[in-house]
Amino acid sequence: MKGLILAGGSGTRLRPITHTGAKQLVPVANTPILFYGLQHLADAGIREVGIVTGDTGEEIRAAVGDGSTWGLEVTYLPQEAPLGLAHAVLIARDFLGDDDFVMYLGDNLLRDGIVPFVEGFEAARAADATSAAAQILLAPVPDPQRFGVAELGDDGSVVALVEKPEVPPSDLALVGVYLFDPTIHEAVRAIEPSDRGELEITDAIQWLIDAGHRVRHEILHGWWLDTGKLTPLLEANRLLLEIVEPANAGEVDEHSQLDGRVAIAEGAVITNSVIRGPVVIGVGTVVTDSYIGPFTSVDRDCIVEGSELEHSIVLAGSRISNVPRVIDSLIGRDAVVARSEQRPRANRFLVGDHCQIFIDT
Ligand code: DAU
Repeated sequence: MKGLILAGGSGTRLRPITHTGAKQLVPVANTPILFYGLQHLADAGIREVGIVTGDTGEEIRAAVGDGSTWGLEVTYLPQEAPLGLAHAVLIARDFLGDDDFVMYLGDNLLRDGIVPFVEGFEAARAADATSAAAQILLAPVPDPQRFGVAELGDDGSVVALVEKPEVPPSDLALVGVYLFDPTIHEAVRAIEPSDRGELEITDAIQWLIDAGHRVRHEILHGWWLDTGKLTPLLEANRLLLEIVEPANAGEVDEHSQLDGRVAIAEGAVITNSVIRGPVVIGVGTVVTDSYIGPFTSVDRDCIVEGSELEHSIVLAGSRISNVPRVIDSLIGRDAVVARSEQRPRANRFLVGDHCQIFIDT
């Protein structure tokens, strides 16, 4: 079995972070979302992985390299434009050959990985190769309009799939992990672009059903997040921090206090500060005279001084100076959030497109 990770597309919902960076590389608990997916494929025994990339392809390549960190062999598959999930399968045809494969959306995060999901498909196909041409993973959600949605028949089989319906036929959303046999290649060639101009994987799977192929499904237990927006991203961060292994590889002075689940990476320096976990502090980050509260990830090479930070994600290379309270925030790379002593006293901004700033005075 091969793996196909979709890491192209455009990240409109996480702007401005995704103006300059791939949404699949936004870190959660200081690890890029995409890396969890790569690990899950490796855990499922997959070795050959194709990564579909778009405008941010160079950045994805620089982060993932040849995949050997995860014991994987990675092939990059540039897609000329985000023309749909089924289009990604279309361009991956040569790489996939006639193998079964897992398609994994690079912005999805599943806490428990995909091992039982892959094993279920393989066992069914080992018993009878015609037993399933595809397998989808479904999860009940409160807002199915945002997702692909499945309709199950009276016998529990998948009878219809519809992409982001205004009136959802059920509350069962498609999670971004799919298993296919080579029949899917026929399906992606047969379908037409949808009203939004994309070749939809939901339409390709519907084609399989209509052509008489069986589509298995499993219901996901354990949390899953489609992390394209700020609130779910902070939520994913919170959930992953709850299971982070406490560790202290940095320097913490005697005036500082670490409470609960706190992981401090090498080269980090904590001086006269309180860190109340769950918190992760990245390599080389310096925290001075500050409080870092629960559910906060501060990535590598940041400076936090004279500030209070809680329930937030700070990306690499940023500085937060003398800001009394930062909560529920996502701060991009190499950003500066600082109280200034300059006169006249005023708020001074250099704010990029699509930024959001909320001031408390
Ligand atoms: O997250 C689950 C949902 O993902 C499913 O319920 C939907 O049925 C499915 O269509 C998809 O919806 P999204 O609107 O979240 O898809 P998005 O455009 O965010 O793309 C998902 C991933 O695939 C993301 O990592 C970008 C990548 N992608 C997307 C497109 C359209 C590509 O690599 N190429 C593309 O052409």
